[in-house]
Amino acid sequence: MKFFIDTANLNEINEAHDLGILDGVTTNPSLMAKEGISGDSNILKHYSEICNIVDGDVSAEVISTDFDGMIREGKILSDLNSKIVVKVPMIKDGVKAIKYFSNHNIRTNCTLVFSVGQALLAAKAGATYVSPFIGRLDDISNDGLNLIKEIKDVYSNYNYQTEILAASIRNTMHIINCAKIGADVITSPLESILGLLSHPLTDSGLEKFLSDYNKGK
Ligand code: G3P
Repeated sequence: MKFFIDTANLNEINEAHDLGILDGVTTNPSLMAKEGISGDSNILKHYSEICNIVDGDVSAEVISTDFDGMIREGKILSDLNSKIVVKVPMIKDGVKAIKYFSNHNIRTNCTLVFSVGQALLAAKAGATYVSPFIGRLDDISNDGLNLIKEIKDVYSNYNYQTEILAASIRNTMHIINCAKIGADVITSPLESILGLLSHPLTDSGLEKFLSDYNKGK
């Protein structure tokens, strides 16, 4: 399973990269705004900085909601760096744009996906990644992880190549359960990734090893 970090914060991206397990980054307009990044040229500059840190894919989202606007923005974003994957919302013009990008060898991440039907359309249009938002489904008392399972089943029925990128991860158990289901990628805040490190028996075991070593000094 690939690990992406879901942030536009350069310190967090650096920290995850230094851990040696980072496969990519996803961002969205809200995450950019959280870092105080605004204005087209600043946003493009920030994407370049992210690309300079990571070795893998960097999802950069279009703001336009019409086909022509998405194509214009997507071309600018993909020309910026070969690591950029153009993030396109699951709306009618978005599906058309994904098909266009797929025909022109521009990689895409179809975002704001909340149903199997939407995931099916994304795959048909040739999306590189599909991003089901599991945390936001949980927030409204739907089963986000079940959506990952259902998409996995449908995609394997037809051998679709679109990778399932589980997004809106809210905790460490989301990551573990996505791995059990077989999501291709998770994108997560740093905190939930670091949560995978923790176990009280690791901490107490290490403390005992070190105190026993020190007794022998
Ligand atoms: O980047 C898309 C997605 O991961 C957003 O997550 O926590 O805002 O629902 P969240």
